[in-house]
Amino acid sequence: MKLLEGKTSLITGAARGIGRAIALAYAREGSNVAFTDMVEDDNMKSLERELNALGVRAKGYVSDASNHENSQMVVDQIATEFGRIDILVNNAGITRDTLLMRMSEEQWDLVIRVNLKSVFNLTKAVQKYMIKQKSGSIINMSSVVGVSGNAGQANYAASKAGIIGFTKSVAKELGSRNIRSNAVAPGFIITDMTHQLSEEVRQDWIKKIPLQRGGTPEDVANVCIFLGSDLSSYVSGQVIHVCGGMNT
Ligand code: NAI
Repeated sequence: MKLLEGKTSLITGAARGIGRAIALAYAREGSNVAFTDMVEDDNMKSLERELNALGVRAKGYVSDASNHENSQMVVDQIATEFGRIDILVNNAGITRDTLLMRMSEEQWDLVIRVNLKSVFNLTKAVQKYMIKQKSGSIINMSSVVGVSGNAGQANYAASKAGIIGFTKSVAKELGSRNIRSNAVAPGFIITDMTHQLSEEVRQDWIKKIPLQRGGTPEDVANVCIFLGSDLSSYVSGQVIHVCGGMNT
C-alpha cells in the first residue's frame, strides 16, 4: 500500500522547484494531485504529463495564491473536479532580498502578500472541505530564516515567521475537527530560488551546514510525504526543520 493512496492533494506554486518535487513524490505515493502556478507554461504542462504518467489523476491550474478571490475560486473548482482535498501544501513563495536600509514599501508588501497572505487565502478556502470530510493535513512552507532571522531578508523572514504563528493557531483551532497543521522549515535547498545567489554566498551557506551540502527538493518532499500521510496522524502544530543540521 502506498502512503498516500486514495488521497487528493493541492500544492501551490508547484510548476518548479520544491513544489514540483512534492507533487511528483505525492503522485509516486498514490495521491491525486491538483497544483497551481502563475502561468500555464512548459513547466506546468510537463509536470501535468509526468504526474499523469505515474497513474494518478493530476491537473495544473493557473492561480495567483496571493489573490483571495482567485484562491477561493480555484479551491472550489478543484473540490468539484476531484471530489475532495485531503492535503494542502502552501508552497508558493518569493524573495525580494535587500538590506532594510534599501527595502522599499513595495518589496515589503509583495513578499508579505505572496508568502503569508497566500497561506491564509488557501487555508481559509480549503478548511470547509476538510471540516466536512472530518480530516485533513495542512503543510506550510516556512524557512529556517523564519526562526533565526537573516540579514538582507527582513521581509522574507517576517513572512516565514508569520507562517509559523499561523500554522500553530490553525493546529489549535482545527485540531478538534481532525485537521492537522504543520510547518516545514527548509534550510539551503538547491532550486532556481537559491540560484539567484552568487557562488560566494552559496558556498558560505554550505560551510555552515553540518551535513556539508545544500538540500535537494526531494529532501523536503520526503518530509512532506510524512506530514501528508497517516504516519504523522498525531503530529500537529510543529515546525520540522529540513536543513542538514544548520538550525538545531
Ligand atoms: P522557486 O522560485 O523555484 O519556485 C516557486 C514557485 O512558486 C514558482 O513556480 C513560482 O512561479 C510560484 N509562485 C510564486 N508566486 C506565486 C503565486 N503568487 N501564486 C502561485 N504560485 C506562485 O522556489 P523554491 O525554492 O522551490 O521554494 C518553494 C518554497 O520553499 C517557497 O515558499 C520558499 O520560500 C521556500 N523555501 C525555499 C528554500 C530554498 O532554499 N530554496 C529555503 C526555505 C524555504
